[in-house]
This record gives sequence, C-alpha cells and structure tokens, in this order.
Amino acid sequence: MKIFKSKHKLKEEISNIKNISFVPTMGGLHKGHMSLIKKSQNFKGKTLVSIFVNPKQFNEKKDFLNYPRNLKKDLRILKHLNVDLIYLPGLKDIFSFQVKNKIFLDKFSKKLCGRSRKYHFKGVLNIVNRFLELIKPKYIFLLLKDFQQSYLIRRHIVKRKIKTKVINCKTIREKNGIACSTRNNNLNKNQLKIASNVIKYLKNKKKLIKKKLPNFKFINIKKDLINLGVKKIDYIEFYNSRTLKRPKSKREKFKIFIAFYLNKTRLIDNI
Ligand code: PAF
Repeated sequence: MKIFKSKHKLKEEISNIKNISFVPTMGGLHKGHMSLIKKSQNFKGKTLVSIFVNPKQFNEKKDFLNYPRNLKKDLRILKHLNVDLIYLPGLKDIFSFQVKNKIFLDKFSKKLCGRSRKYHFKGVLNIVNRFLELIKPKYIFLLLKDFQQSYLIRRHIVKRKIKTKVINCKTIREKNGIACSTRNNNLNKNQLKIASNVIKYLKNKKKLIKKKLPNFKFINIKKDLINLGVKKIDYIEFYNSRTLKRPKSKREKFKIFIAFYLNKTRLIDNI
C-alpha cells in the first residue's frame, strides 16, 4: 500500500498505470466503502482510494468540523483490504491547480438535497472533477445511497466527455436496516433505533404508496415519522429512478427519497 500526500508524486507513480479504479471517500470508512473497494478490485488494474473531507461541500462550518474523522482506523482498513494506492491531499494540494473542465450541474441538482444544501453539489463536483483530471481513472465507484450525487457526477462526466465510467454499487445496510454512512457515527443508541424504525416503516409504506398512485401525498407519513422520533424532515419525495419524474402509474418502479434529522445529524436514504 502506497500513500501519497502530493499530487505530483501521485501523478509520477500512476503515469504508467493503464487502468485505475478510483474510490473517492471522505474517510470514516464503513462497510459501504469496503464493498466499493472490493468491487473495484475485481477489475483489471490498480485501486486508488482518496480520503479528503471536502470543506466546499458543507453548508455550515460546524457540520464540516463535526464530520466524523478517524484516519488511523481508515488506514488500517485499507491496509487490510490490500489497497494499492491511497491519496490523502491537503487543501492546497487539491485546490491549487487550474482545471480544464468547467463543472456541469444538471438541473436535477436543484431537487432533493439541492434545495436545502445550496452549494453542496457544486462543491462535490468541484472536488470530483479535480480528482478525475489528476488521476484519469478508468472507473469511479459510487454508492447508490447517494443516488443524486452519483447521478450528477455521471451527468458531468458525460457532458464534459470525460473518459471515466461510473460504476454504481448498491447501498449496504446494517442489520437494523439503516444504510451504512459515516454520519451514523454521530448517532447514539436511541437515535440508531429511531433511524432503524424509520427505514422499516418506509419499506412497509412503499406498497401503500404504489396502490395510491398517482395521487399519493406524504402528509400522514410525515406525521408518523415525527411520532417515531424524527426531529425534522428535510424532504420526503418519490421519483421514478430512471426518468427522475414523479411516478404516475402503478407499474412504474420508483424510489422514496428522504433526508431527515435526528437531533443535529442529517441522514439521507432512498428506498
Ligand atoms: O460521497 C462522498 O463521500 C463525497 O461526496 C465524495 C464523492 C468523496 C466527494 O467529496
């Protein structure tokens, strides 16, 4: 396992590597990240994992500072997984060069998380675009838990004709049903229980929503979620995950997208 803190050294190292499978992370590695890494290792070439908590994608400084970090543990996990290359840039290393590609923000960025986290996706695409220009990976591996993020990264890649393929990986869940997420580290036992009940509740409700299409309204569901112990619901909406339109017929496949708060921790999921 080789660790790089400088983009110049990293570029030197990878200049002769043909196929790079890239797994971008903000650390706080969990089973979801591990599944991405394991999947990437089934592809030909080398796996490169980055760890960088990107300040530009946080709306509030407090949220950025509270984001769970544990580099020592992360490096232990990466070593155990036999990852080839690790990139741990500092702020200056990653933001100090001129990029070639302008960020393309698809209009889907205005929905869901884009409504309450104004500069979030611009910040995500800024950093991902930088990584793609430096590393030029053959593949980038992303979790479907962050469906909107993954969609927007793919749209940017396609629009800017970047030669990297997005590989989406299914959401990995804990035994209690909640999606693996670095932010789960900020939850106490009671909050984990509430989060688990929310996911179980929504899984059950999906059938009812299907029956009531196309006129389903989330009013009662929102009330029930507050009764389960959710502090605030940022959004709960449903979209056909292929067309990104509201489902109209009972035959359409759709996903419920939710962002909610348990005390100060904001969780997202799609079911
Ligand atoms: O999903 C994440 O962890 C981040 O948004 C990403 C893609 C690493 C960019 O900072």
